[in-house]
Amino acid sequence: MRRILHVKGDVMCTLVLLLLLGLLLYTQQLPLCKPEPNSEPEPRPQTRSKSRKKKVVETKPAGKPLLAPTMPPFDFEGYLREKDNRNFKLLIDQPEKWSSSDAAAPYLLIAVKSTAADFDKRQVVRQTWGKEGRFQPGVSIRTVFLLGIPRNRSALPLWDRLLAYESRTFRDVLVWDFEDTFFNLTLKETHFLEWVNSSCPHVKFVFKGDADVYVNVENILEMLQGREPEEDLFVGDIIVHAKPIRRRSSKYYVPEFLYGGGLYPNYAGGGGFVMSGHTARRLSSACRQVELFPIDDVFLGMCLQMIGVQASRHQGFKTFGIPRPSAAPHLQTFNPCFYRELMVVHSLSVPQIWLMWNLLHDPKLSCHNRTSLRSRFFFSDSIKTTEEKLVG
Ligand SMILES: *[C@@H]1O[C@H](CO)[C@@H](O)[C@H](O)[C@H]1NC(C)=O
Ligand SMILES: *[C@@H]1O[C@H](CO)[C@@H](O)[C@H](O)[C@H]1NC(C)=O
Ligand SMILES: *[C@@H]1O[C@H](CO)[C@@H](O)[C@H](O)[C@H]1NC(C)=O
Ligand SMILES: *[C@@H]1O[C@H](CO)[C@@H](O)[C@H](O)[C@H]1NC(C)=O
Repeated sequence: MRRILHVKGDVMCTLVLLLLLGLLLYTQQLPLCKPEPNSEPEPRPQTRSKSRKKKVVETKPAGKPLLAPTMPPFDFEGYLREKDNRNFKLLIDQPEKWSSSDAAAPYLLIAVKSTAADFDKRQVVRQTWGKEGRFQPGVSIRTVFLLGIPRNRSALPLWDRLLAYESRTFRDVLVWDFEDTFFNLTLKETHFLEWVNSSCPHVKFVFKGDADVYVNVENILEMLQGREPEEDLFVGDIIVHAKPIRRRSSKYYVPEFLYGGGLYPNYAGGGGFVMSGHTARRLSSACRQVELFPIDDVFLGMCLQMIGVQASRHQGFKTFGIPRPSAAPHLQTFNPCFYRELMVVHSLSVPQIWLMWNLLHDPKLSCHNRTSLRSRFFFSDSIKTTEEKLVG
C-alpha cells in the first residue's frame, strides 16, 4: 500500500512538473507562434491560379508600411471629401540631371518608393541593383527615390536637412509636399507619372517598385531587348479578378461607398513592375481623370483599364515573396542560382539585398546550366517551370 502511494506520489510529482514545463513552454512560445496584430500577413485583395497558390507563400503584403495597431480606423469619408485636393508641390527636384533632350534620356528609369526615415534602404539600393550607369552602349540607367514628407516629423528631426544633403550628394531624390502615408501612395503614383511626363518624357522604359525588393536589372534589360519604347508595355506580377475586401479589420478594407464594384480591374503588385515610356506618359494623363483611390496598385489598374492596356503577368516578378523554408524545407530560399532566374523578389532586408547582389555578381558563382531567360520566362504561362524548380 505504502509502495503504491509512494509510486503515486512520484507520478503526481512528475505530472505536476510536466504541467509546469508545458505551461512554461506555452507562455514562452506565445510571442513566437502568434503573430503580432500588425504583422499578420494579410492577403492582399487577390486571387491566383491554384497551382501557384499552393507553393507561393505570401510573406508580407506587398511591402506596404504597416499601420500601427493603435491607429484609428481610416477615415474614408474624410478621404472622399479631400479627394479633389490632388496637386502637391514638388519640394525637391533634380532638374540638372534630367534634360528634356532625347539623347540624354535614360534607357531605363528606376523609380523607388521610399520614406525619409528609410535612409539605409536607399543606400543599399544605390549600391546594388539601383546603381546608375551605362550597361551597354545606349543602355543607361538612372535612379530616383520618390518621397513625401514624414507624417511624424518629431520622429526624425531635421528630416528636411537629411533630404537636402542626400539630394546634393546623390541627386536622386524627389520629394513632394504630401504626407508619406500608406493611403497617400496613390498621390505618389500620380505625381511620379506627371513628373515622368514633364521632366523625363523621352525615357524608354520605367521600372517602379519598393525599396525592400531585390531587382535583377540584367534580367529586366534582357526582357526589354527588342521591345519598342513607343508601344504599350506593362509587365509585372499581375493580379486578376481580385475582390474588394469588405472585412473592416483588414488593412485593405474598402467600404462599398468608396468602391461599389464586385471586382477590381487587373493590377500589378506594387512591389515592382516595368512599363514603356509611352505607357507611362499615357498613364499620366489617364490617372488625372481617375478618381483617387486609396490603394495605389489598384488605382493604377484603373488607369490601365482606362487606356485599354493589357498588363502582362511575368513569372519572374515575385512581388509576394517566395516560399519560406518552412513551407518547403528542402528548398534553399537564399540560393543565388534561384534568384538569378527572377526579376523582382519582394520583402528582403537591407543585409539580404546587399548579400544577394554580391553573391550574384561573384565571378565564382556557378550554377548548373542556365537556359535562356527569354525563352523560359518571357510572357510565358509556364508557371510549372518556376515551380518545378521550387520543388527541386
Ligand atoms: C512621433 O515620434 C515621437 C518620437 O519617436 C514619438 O514619441 C511620438 O509618440 C510620435 N507621435 C505619433 C503621433 O506617432
Ligand atoms: C495625404 O497628404 C495630405 C497632405 O499632406 C494630408 O493632408 C492627408 O491627410 C494625407 N492623406 C492620407 C490618407 O494620409
Ligand atoms: C504631358 O506632357 C505633354 C507635353 O509636354 C503635355 O501637353 C501634357 O499636358 C502633359 N500631361 C500631363 C498629365 O501632365
Ligand atoms: C545541364 O548540365 C548537365 C551537366 O551538368 C548536362 O549534362 C545537361 O545536358 C545540361 N542541360 C542543358 C539543358 O543544358
